[in-house]
Amino acid sequence: MPAREDYFAVMFENDKLVYLDQTKLPTEEEYVETDDVERIAEAIERLEVRGAPQLGVVGAYGFALGLKRDPSNAAAERAYRRLVETRPTAVNLKWALDRAMEEYRRGSEDDAYDRLVAFAAALHRDDAEKCRRIGENGLAMFKKRSTALTHCNTGKLATGGDGTAFSVLKTAHERGMLKYVYADETRPLLQGSRLTAYELDKSGVPFSILADNAAATLFQRGEIDLVVVGADRIAANGDAANKIGTYNLAVLCAYHDVPFYIAAPTSTIDASIASGEEIPIERRDGEEVRTFRGTRVADKRHDAYNPAFDVTPAELIAGIATERALHEPPYRFER
Ligand code: MRU
Repeated sequence: MPAREDYFAVMFENDKLVYLDQTKLPTEEEYVETDDVERIAEAIERLEVRGAPQLGVVGAYGFALGLKRDPSNAAAERAYRRLVETRPTAVNLKWALDRAMEEYRRGSEDDAYDRLVAFAAALHRDDAEKCRRIGENGLAMFKKRSTALTHCNTGKLATGGDGTAFSVLKTAHERGMLKYVYADETRPLLQGSRLTAYELDKSGVPFSILADNAAATLFQRGEIDLVVVGADRIAANGDAANKIGTYNLAVLCAYHDVPFYIAAPTSTIDASIASGEEIPIERRDGEEVRTFRGTRVADKRHDAYNPAFDVTPAELIAGIATERALHEPPYRFER
């Protein structure tokens, strides 16, 4: 099937950030336009925009827009602090904001807004190129024409380009190495069945969605050749945080002798932390578990455990595809 992509996740146009509101997908394709840094911070918190590398891109545009009317040092500090606190696990956000702040401090206030918009656009383009290279480097995961399973959403919606794990799948599809994809629905917010399915369909990749708890039976039946997922933060030793439910898959892979891979740009590597124990895990509102799109599916009085991410130990990871290489264990990422 030919590719028929006709959507974008994030764009900067007429001095505004334009983004596809991912909470409405797949039933509505609604683009939001704003130049308000507070609105951008809320969009990040609500997961209207999401995915680790995309958070870096949006953070950088948001920081620039925070200087549009007031380029003072106080405004820069305010924008930085508001944005960096929105989502604590995805290190790409802090990575991009730290660089944006350095760029701000390099020159004068007079042209700060223009410089920071140019900086964000360059970061956006750079992430797109990294995605392309991750796709190429990830091809080595395919020893034969394979069926892959993935979790959460790692495509154009989650990055500045074609994706991380998604770029690996798309590249393998284009090169005839991908037989089929199984996409976990990814409870509680269904990034898999709402977003990855939307993107696989647009890219012409054959796939099924499945409830997260159906994955084990696919492994038992010998249907899965490899698992590839993204990451929100990777420690120096290769331990990797990703969407809750990822660790389950890594354990399944180990039991069934199936390779488990991560794909992420080097901006997701946090070499300042030795291991996954130091990765802060975002805890989200229990209402995400007790409701679905405004419909109550569990009693409001019941406590809900809702960590957004889990950490997969490096010993369960067969390889990490970055824009540089397909890294193999033992992992030793340096600052
Ligand atoms: O909470 P989300 O939807 O932002 O979580 C996203 C993920 O966990 C992705 O797998 C990760 O950011 C890698 S995206 C290329």
